[in-house]
Parts: sequence; C-alpha cells; structure tokens
Amino acid sequence: MVFTYYREERAAVAIGALLIILAAVLAVLFPNIIDFVLDKELAIQEGGRTYKFWKEPPVVPRLQIYIYNVTNADEFLNNGEKPALQELGPYVYLQHWEKVDIKFNDNGTVSYKVKKTFTFNESLSAGSQDDLVVVPNVPMLSATSQSKHAARFLRLAMASIMDILKIKPFVEVSVEQLLWGYEDPLLKLAKDVVPKEQKLPYDQFGLLYGKNSTMPDLYTIFTGANDITKFGMMDRWNGKDGLGFWTTPECDSIMGTDGSIFPPHITKETVLKVFDKDLCRTLPLVYQRDVIASGGVPGFRFSPPTNVFTSEKNLPSQKCYCPAGPPCAPEGTFNVSQCQYDSPVLLTFPHFYLADPALREAVTGISPPEAEKHQLYIDVQPIMGTAMKARARIQVNLAVSQVRDIKQVASFPDIVFPIMWFEDCVDELPEEMRTLLKLVVDLPPVAHAAVSGALAAIGVIVLLGAFMCLARAAKRQEKLHLSSPLPANATSTKTGQLNLGFSK
Ligand SMILES: *[C@@H]1O[C@H](CO)[C@@H](O)[C@H](O)[C@H]1NC(C)=O
Ligand SMILES: *[C@@H]1O[C@H](CO)[C@@H](O)[C@H](O)[C@H]1NC(C)=O
Ligand SMILES: *[C@@H]1O[C@H](CO)[C@@H](O)[C@H](O)[C@H]1NC(C)=O
Ligand SMILES: *[C@@H]1O[C@H](CO)[C@@H](O)[C@H](O)[C@H]1NC(C)=O
Ligand SMILES: *[C@@H]1O[C@H](CO)[C@@H](O)[C@H](O)[C@H]1NC(C)=O
Repeated sequence: MVFTYYREERAAVAIGALLIILAAVLAVLFPNIIDFVLDKELAIQEGGRTYKFWKEPPVVPRLQIYIYNVTNADEFLNNGEKPALQELGPYVYLQHWEKVDIKFNDNGTVSYKVKKTFTFNESLSAGSQDDLVVVPNVPMLSATSQSKHAARFLRLAMASIMDILKIKPFVEVSVEQLLWGYEDPLLKLAKDVVPKEQKLPYDQFGLLYGKNSTMPDLYTIFTGANDITKFGMMDRWNGKDGLGFWTTPECDSIMGTDGSIFPPHITKETVLKVFDKDLCRTLPLVYQRDVIASGGVPGFRFSPPTNVFTSEKNLPSQKCYCPAGPPCAPEGTFNVSQCQYDSPVLLTFPHFYLADPALREAVTGISPPEAEKHQLYIDVQPIMGTAMKARARIQVNLAVSQVRDIKQVASFPDIVFPIMWFEDCVDELPEEMRTLLKLVVDLPPVAHAAVSGALAAIGVIVLLGAFMCLARAAKRQEKLHLSSPLPANATSTKTGQLNLGFSK
C-alpha cells in the first residue's frame, strides 16, 4: 500500500463525492419534487392556498352579448326575402362568480352550487338594455316546429289559440326582456293547462332567464387531493355521472372541468375537457399555439378541434349526438334540443364559424367568420393548469321547421335562424394570482439551478480541498519514508528476496 492517509481526508473525499452525487440526483429529481409540492398545494382544500381563488375567483368575467335584430320581418314572411339581420352589441354584463353550499366529501371530492350575478355596464356596451329588438318568437316557433309530426287537428287547434292570443312569429322586446325574461302568453297558457309533469317550469321566456342567481345544479368535483390527474374534474352533476342524453358513454360523460382550472402538467398533446350544462356536453380542447398572457406569463392556447361540431357524415363517431337521426343537424351545428325542453335549438360558433357556409348565406347581415373574433379558446398556464384568459363563444340558433297547417307561420320556411351570440370573457387574472403563476414558472428553474449548482460547487470545493490535503500528506509521508530507518519498500524488498530464495 503506497497511500496511507489520514481519516479526515478520507471523510472529506467521501463528503465531496456524496455532495456531487446528491447534486446530480437533485438535478434529476428536482422537477418531480417541485411537482409534488405544487400538486399538494394545488389540490382544493379548506384553508389551502388556492381555496379562496377557487371559491370566489378574484376575476371580473364579462358576458358580451350580440343580438341579431331582424329588420325585414314583414318582407321575410310575406315576400320570401332572406332575413336581413343587424348585429347589435356588445351588451356587456360584468359578472361575479362564487361557489356556495360547499361541502367536502370523504372520498376526495367537493360538492357545491354556482352563484353568478350579472350587472349591466352601459359604458362598456354599444347600446342600452332598453334597446328594442325584433327577434323570432322562440316559444311559438318551438311549439309549431315540434307540432310538425303531431296530429293535424292539434296543429289547427294551435293555430286558433295563437289567433286568440294574437301571437306572431316575431316579437319586439327590449334587450333586457329578451335576455332576462318577459311574460310569454304561450308559456303562461302551457303552465296553466298542461299537467305538472310537463317539462316547462316557467311562464317567462328569456335567453338567460333565471341565470342571475344561485343555479340549482349541484356539482361534485375531484379536489385532486387523492389523484391530481383528476383535479377539478366533474364526478357528478346533480348526482348523475352522465347527462343521460347521448347514446355512448364517451359522448354522455360529464368528465371535464368548469373551464377555469385543469389538471396540472399540461403538454401540447393534452386534450382538455370542459363540461358545460348549457352546452349539453363536454367540449374537448386541443393545443393551438403558444401565447404570452398578461403579466408576461407564458401559456398555451387551447381551442376545440375544427371538427368538434362536424356532422356524422364526416365523422361517424358523431352519431352519438344524434339519437333521433339520421337526418342529423347540419354541418357545424350542435343540436341541444334535449337540454332545452325540446326547443329546436342548434348551437354553433359565432357567425357560423366552422359551419356549413350555406347557413350564413341563408340570411343577410352576418359577416364572414374570423377565427380571431369568433373562435372559442382558453389560454392556460401549463404547469398549474390555470386558465389565464378565455373567450367562450357560442351562437344560439333556432331550427325552424315549416308547418303549413298553422297559418301564422305557414310562410316561415325551414331555416336555421340565428338569434344571438355571446362571449364569456376572462381577460386577465388579478395581480395576486399572476404573481403566483409567474413564481411557479420562474422559480423552479432558478431554484433548480441554485440548489443543485450550489451543492455541486460545495462538493467540488470539498473534494478539491481533500485532494490537496491528500497530496500534502502524501508528500509529507514520502519525506518521512526517506528519513526512516525502515524504508516503506522494505517489505517488498524482503518479499523479493523471499521470492528469489524460493525460485532458486
Ligand atoms: C331593430 O330593428 C327594428 C326594425 O325591425 C328597428 O326599428 C329597431 O330600431 C332596431 N333596433 C335597434 C336597437 O337598432
Ligand atoms: C364521493 O362522495 C360523494 C358524496 O357522498 C358521492 O356523491 C360521489 O359519488 C362519490 N364519488 C366517488 C368517486 O366515489
Ligand atoms: C342580478 O341580480 C342582482 C341582485 O342580486 C341585481 O343587482 C342585478 O341588477 C341583476 N342583474 C340583472 C341583469 O338583472
Ligand atoms: C363599467 O366598467 C368600467 C370599466 O371596467 C368601470 O370603470 C365602471 O365603473 C363600470 N361601471 C359600472 C356602472 O359598473
Ligand atoms: C334535434 O334533436 C331532436 C331530439 O333528439 C330531434 O327531434 C330533432 O329532429 C333534431 N333537430 C335537427 C335539426 O336535427
């Protein structure tokens, strides 16, 4: 043995090597450690860091509404002209969102109801709530369209009732009435005469009727405490795990979030899912491009795949959304009549974006769709899965069927009649949340570099120090050997002699 060094130096070498190994291990594992901590912080729990953001999002979402005002109702009905529409708006409502009746369950879920309040903001709007608009009479046209396959005498009876009540295919109402409700003679009649089991629960009609309050729907979502990959995902909606409208479990599933949060660690391959009861389905969202949200936080833009509302002719799997067909709804439209008390409501994107151009050409006054203005999208922060900016855009249309037996609507042709479109906008998160997000983006790499870098540096220094000491010690020992009466190589000399003696 040539090197016999001191115990301290041996320990120093070991510590230095250990530190370097630790730095390497940390460098590899650090992202997982960060993710672990992040996921624990993210899960919805009472008193948790994200709980208050979840319970009462500190954002002021805007609901912007555009109404298609019909300017040639008489010419359309009497002369067969195309409907001439005038797009009015936006009428802007500032919203406040809150989750109420929150109850944590023992199985990693939380149940709640949603309370939304809307306040009209005139200065952001391009008109007043008192503006008068002419729009199709939705309750009447729903009833006549539905009666298409009923017995003829029923249709004739309907015609005389409508005569007595002076119901017309178009109504002139204020924007406020159209959205928040006006008394409709037909609904009132239906409520009075139709037995209780019948579905219509109210005598008012309004596109957003009853939405300015706590909604009766009970949601149960996963908190992410047990399984972060389910963070924010719907478990039950009114106690059910499916909508009960569509023919396959995939289409009927409510497995999606409310669109404000998503399971974390989103990649460009992730398919996000949003469940919306008014949309009557979960909506898939796919990566579109990188974006920089306000405050300089980088993110991904997700939007529905372009074939999301395609017809079953183009994509056979869409058949699940067409239980009564074929024929099914036209290309680029989504039939939600089952969710709307059988009213023939078809949803599309605004200006019939991604839909059959013939639908837009059946009317005048709607400009060609533009992705930037009319597509639906959500910008998410991929690490946390937080929505940073969103434009939920949908157009509401009425699929009117011509019914010749009812004289009031005899000249109303088969048409997909656009009524309005809206966009639910979240523009920027408040400073407090942006800071948190930015921290999540910026901190881990810096901390990562700092921690493993520092460890490695200390390791190297300790190791170098140890080697220096070793070298010195070795030199000292060499000197020691030279002056020693029994040189270090004495043994080997002896052995050599021994060997020699043996071989001889
Ligand atoms: C809507 O159209 C009608 C004509 O049908 C018109 O009288 C009314 O002023 C329009 N409303 C607005 C707000 O422009
Ligand atoms: C969790 O518990 C709630 C309330 O008891 C229940 O409604 C829900 O179905 C349960 N979910 C799962 C996944 O077990
Ligand atoms: C919604 O309700 C609140 C009170 O709960 C009220 O102040 C507000 O004006 C209502 N908004 C609309 C659009 O009716
Ligand atoms: C309307 O919105 C603007 C901009 O957000 C705000 O300054 C103003 O106070 C709002 N007005 C009302 C009546 O809420
Ligand atoms: C929409 O769906 C309902 C019920 O499934 C069906 O009766 C109706 O014909 C459909 N409408 C269109 C335009 O396909």
